[in-house]
Amino acid sequence: MPPVQDMRERLETLNKIGVALSSETNLSLLLELIVRETRSFTNADAGSLYLVDEDNEVLHFEVAQNDTLRKRADMKPETFKPYSLPLTKDSIAGYVAITGETLNILDAYSLSPEAGFEFNRDFDKRNKYRTKSMLLVAMKDTEGKIIGVLQLINSLDDGGNVVPFDPSIESLVSSLASQAAVAIKNAQLIKEIKAVFEALIQYSVSAIDARSPFTAGHSKGVALYTMALARAINETHEGPYADVSFSLAELEEINYAAWLHDIGKIGVREWVLDKRSRLSEAETQALISRFESIKALAIAETEKKKATFAKGGGAKKEELGALDEELGRQLEQIEKDLAFIKEINGTNFLDDQGLEKLEEIREKQYIDFNGHRSHYLSEFEFENLSVRKGNLTKGEIKEIQSHVIHTENIVNKIPFKGSLKKVPIFAAGHHEMLDGSGYPKHLSAEDIPLQARIITVADIYEALIAKDRPYKKSMDLARSLAILEEEAAKNRLDKALVRIFIENKVYEAT
Ligand SMILES: [Fe+2]
Ligand SMILES: [Fe+2]
Repeated sequence: MPPVQDMRERLETLNKIGVALSSETNLSLLLELIVRETRSFTNADAGSLYLVDEDNEVLHFEVAQNDTLRKRADMKPETFKPYSLPLTKDSIAGYVAITGETLNILDAYSLSPEAGFEFNRDFDKRNKYRTKSMLLVAMKDTEGKIIGVLQLINSLDDGGNVVPFDPSIESLVSSLASQAAVAIKNAQLIKEIKAVFEALIQYSVSAIDARSPFTAGHSKGVALYTMALARAINETHEGPYADVSFSLAELEEINYAAWLHDIGKIGVREWVLDKRSRLSEAETQALISRFESIKALAIAETEKKKATFAKGGGAKKEELGALDEELGRQLEQIEKDLAFIKEINGTNFLDDQGLEKLEEIREKQYIDFNGHRSHYLSEFEFENLSVRKGNLTKGEIKEIQSHVIHTENIVNKIPFKGSLKKVPIFAAGHHEMLDGSGYPKHLSAEDIPLQARIITVADIYEALIAKDRPYKKSMDLARSLAILEEEAAKNRLDKALVRIFIENKVYEAT
């Protein structure tokens, strides 16, 4: 038995470790923490952790730590990659995972043949390491179910010599393992809930993006570029963001914001998102039919005039000829007007001359078969055809821009709390520009958080480079990057971010 003082200290340490474990909710960090703390508690040179899968068929080797190998200068230790092995009693860890027994082994190389399990020396051979003393305990949850195995290797004395694990510590390590099991269960549960929540967000947002061929896959791309840019900032040690290092929780917050940034497009009508000409096909068809009618009316009008001449005793040849000439001119002009409208309908730019011509057509009127006087073009048609740049009317631009307000409203309704509470602010800030020319709040640089600026760069780049858009050719890399630089030079985008984006090849993220 260790002295009472020692025991008290050990219990206090145990308590502290318990508290530390219960506050770590990230599963992989938690597993590393468990191994690190139990190793330091038992003065073990190395340690590993295995998790039993749900169906009790596989053992997942999750963590491996080894101080000797880490400190060794002559050879680099192999990089550990988690892997799985069948859950059988043949391996030491498997034996503990199945039986729940604690194993305190004096020398892994001199196991009794009756033990029924073997020590696998492959790792030792590859890394020139000698595993000797081992302590393995099962991690049991509150219902006594074994969820994993903690394996401690080579207990060291004060002189650094490998000694057996003190049997008096077994029950403490066992109780530590149980606390660890509870923490692991919690972290697994949180991970599962997060996975469901994330999948729900990703599927809904992707479905909203897929409403229009222009935006399909957009949010996913933006999230990938955003996260790559945020990580690149963490690795940057110069410039204005040299000291910025996003924590895992902060990265998570940025990721949610990036995925959700355009969720508000659900509030924008599909045909507005999809608009690829000034007038839709149906609207163009209606306009063509009207122009055909106008031609028919002109012909009928001429016929009527000829008939009047005939009643009045017949017209002179020259008079009839003049009527036909006039009709010819009229028909030609109607054709020209229609051809002009068809031409500008497919373009994204209307110059002063074009607008003047369109205004002339707008002034023209005709009288239909019922005697009603109407304009060649309706107000709606003129509004759509007279757009100078692009093909969206002011009202439609406003509707598209309103998606950011919808995003803010929707994301505000998701109860993001604690380390995620700024998701709505970051998501809704992705169309703000540093010079105040953005929307919807026209914020200027000092009011736009770095996280929102990152999403803005990712958003613009994705829209430029996006492939597989029907009716829109994707821009090439050099031109897309040049546009980002131009926007930065105009102080609309953050210069330092654009530089990191280009220098760190963040654009390769997808
Ligand atoms: Fe947007
Ligand atoms: Fe976007």
